[in-house]
Amino acid sequence: MIKVLGIETSCDETAVAIVTDDRRILSNQIFSQIEEHAKYGGVVPEVASRSHMQNLDSLIDLALDESGVSLNELDAIAVTAGPGLIGGVIVGVMYAKAIAASLGKPIIAVNHLEGHALTARLTENIGFPFLLLLVSGGHTQFLAVKNVGEYLHLGTTIDDAVGEAFDKTAKMLGLAYPGGPLIEEKAKLGDSTRFKFPIPMANVDNCDLSFSGLKTSVLRAVELLEDKRDEQNIRDIAASFQKSVTEVLAIKTEKAMRKFVQIHDQLPKNFVISGGVASNAAIRSKLMEVCVNNGFNFYAPPMKLCTDNGAMIAWAGIERYRLGFVDKLDFQPKSRWEL
Ligand code: KG4
Ligand code: ZN
Repeated sequence: MIKVLGIETSCDETAVAIVTDDRRILSNQIFSQIEEHAKYGGVVPEVASRSHMQNLDSLIDLALDESGVSLNELDAIAVTAGPGLIGGVIVGVMYAKAIAASLGKPIIAVNHLEGHALTARLTENIGFPFLLLLVSGGHTQFLAVKNVGEYLHLGTTIDDAVGEAFDKTAKMLGLAYPGGPLIEEKAKLGDSTRFKFPIPMANVDNCDLSFSGLKTSVLRAVELLEDKRDEQNIRDIAASFQKSVTEVLAIKTEKAMRKFVQIHDQLPKNFVISGGVASNAAIRSKLMEVCVNNGFNFYAPPMKLCTDNGAMIAWAGIERYRLGFVDKLDFQPKSRWEL
């Protein structure tokens, strides 16, 4: 049995996990820095790096304790090597390199996006290829996942990421960071038909998305409100915004499915949604419907594995390790890194 330690420090979650190749999560430790950043309305890179430095060591100890695995029993160390806030990535990479070097264990530099992309193979036994909608705070992409390290880009956002659109809308409504979960909460009690926001790029026949026009429409609607702090106004804008996002994701997912089937006509046809925004229940249920209508199986990791975590990095490490994709100790942390 292969046991891998995964370290994630690319944004505002310090996360460590130990995962096995028979798909068991022995420990999944997360320290969320949300409270440290909330007062600034977004993630402050310097605060994030310092917090990763302060918390990583004890999280690794907790993960080892909980799993009952000693450092010596690990087969490899996997770490997010990018993309992300470079200070945080450096902290994780330095720790991982120190552990790997001192124990003489292999190290695996994991692309954070590949972590999100492969999580569904940890929680469900699905094979390649599958269609992936990756929706996080920094990325929004439709990908045909052909194999570990083999991704075909079918479409992407031409401006903001979906998570970013949620966060910016929340900010306009005076809600805290990160905005996604709060918008979802408010939307539950809102009237989604009150504001007619655009469904951006819906009629463009490709899988690309755009959220900056929608953001401007929300801003205009907020400016026109008589009482910007009125709870029902906030709920209705949140609901109308979430409806537009859900609609456009559904339309574009259908287009991506058509493209995917043209490339891969074998069965089963599997669709996976992953990344922080994939924890949104309204989006999940709409896309589940799209899957039923188009003959695709729907998969989404459990909520806590959609947002950033160490298990997805450990698992991507296992997938790479099994194929012999091990890295040299001198690899560089990267702030930008396309899949
Ligand atoms: O994948 P993730 O944890 O970090 C990145 O790699 O970016 O995604 C974070 C993003 C944030 O923009 C957050 O607002 C969004 O995911 N998010 C949500 C929800 N939960 C998190 N967006 C909509 N609905 C949610 N329930
Ligand atoms: Zn992420």
